[in-house]
Amino acid sequence: MQTSTTQVAIVGAGPSGLLLAHVLAQAGVAAVIVERQSADHVSARIRAGVLEDATVSFLTEVGLGARMQAEGLPHEGFTLIYEDLAPLRIDLQALAGRSVMVYGQTEVTRDLMRAREALGLKTVYEAEDVAVHDIQSNRPSVSYRLAGEAYRLEADFVIGCDGYHGVCRATAKATGSLREIERAYPFGWLGLLADVPPVSHELIYANHADGFYLCSMRSPTRSRYYLQCRLDEKVEDWSDERFWSALAHRLGPDRAAALVQGPSLEKSIAPLRSFVAEPLRFGRLFLAGDAGHIVPPTGAKGLNLAVADIRVLSRALVSFYQTGSEGALTGYSDLALRRIWKAERFSWWMTSLLHKFEGQTLFDRRIQAAEFATLAGSAALQKALAEAYLGLFD
Ligand code: FAD
Ligand code: PHB
Repeated sequence: MQTSTTQVAIVGAGPSGLLLAHVLAQAGVAAVIVERQSADHVSARIRAGVLEDATVSFLTEVGLGARMQAEGLPHEGFTLIYEDLAPLRIDLQALAGRSVMVYGQTEVTRDLMRAREALGLKTVYEAEDVAVHDIQSNRPSVSYRLAGEAYRLEADFVIGCDGYHGVCRATAKATGSLREIERAYPFGWLGLLADVPPVSHELIYANHADGFYLCSMRSPTRSRYYLQCRLDEKVEDWSDERFWSALAHRLGPDRAAALVQGPSLEKSIAPLRSFVAEPLRFGRLFLAGDAGHIVPPTGAKGLNLAVADIRVLSRALVSFYQTGSEGALTGYSDLALRRIWKAERFSWWMTSLLHKFEGQTLFDRRIQAAEFATLAGSAALQKALAEAYLGLFD
């Protein structure tokens, strides 16, 4: 067993883990990341697309703004559609004076990886059998195997940035003091990425009789589309042709006339889930990002929540190393959970409004349509929606 030490051991090199390590390095706090997958695997995952302005500001503040500002697409609004009711444009600028940025999680991850390489910082990729130990002591550690060799990394703190299926929340659970609060939805999203111009220059979220669809993008020449699908469906059952024809059908003839089809670069199915772990601290182990909470992607909140967690947690860790006080660390869980629950409510609401639910009665469907019509008729409700989509402050 080879043993090494650092100040902060981070499990997981997704956006949460990479961003935390980046901010800590800027403040002179040593951190090592242990990641189960390869760097190529991590940087190829296609996920989030929409950044709140608070996320953009924080990434810019920590020196990650240059490519995002040059290549990201500021969006001043998006459109909601309910079957054949008149489409409703949510004018973010007019309603709340702010915009979101369309800039893919893949790009955020690449920017973080490049910044890390430039500073010569260490990430352990392809670590096997990652385990967390002694979290109730002042010397917690992370053990793993790499190319057959056993390693142990001792630290002052372990931060679980290892996503929903990670080992850190499982370790916290073993303490018996973790509560998991969950709602699983009986459907998923089938996503397709293609190098074709987007059907619309703004995002479209829609509830069609066949189910939800979302028209999104990564650039003026790269589109990202999603279709609601059943959980028992397989990506292999969805040829590109089947996807494009289902999307064209849901778009309807007028909108579909502008749809450009092309070969998929990626296709995947993501289940939808609302989930919160309470609390987010267990002795010297902290949970951040998807390790601590999941939102269905309908509200575009997951990555933004992860960045907000890291903003609070990185400041608390830096304050600990600068002053020796644990005050900010003690406040992390409650502060983050207050914001997380607001995002959970918003994401659940967007999901409830925009999806077709199996077993939905005509009454349920009419109530959904009436909810949409009420929103369309109320500037106050639209403003509340715009504020929630733009970001939920602490
Ligand atoms: P992850 O990205 O899951 O990273 C966790 C890392 O930990 C991974 O690299 C994993 O390999 C590693 N790991 C796991 N287990 C271990 C282990 N045992 N040991 C070591 N490493 C481990 N969010 C938005 O804000 N806006 C959007 O528009 C949006 N759209 C989305 C669309 C889809 C289809 C999906 C699926 C998600 C979307 N999200 C969106 C959510 C967003 O992608 C996540 O919230 C974000 O990835 C969370 O980052 P994270 O670093 O916390 O977790
Ligand atoms: C995306 O572009 O992947 C995307 C955009 C908005 C969402 C979810 C995903 O709400």
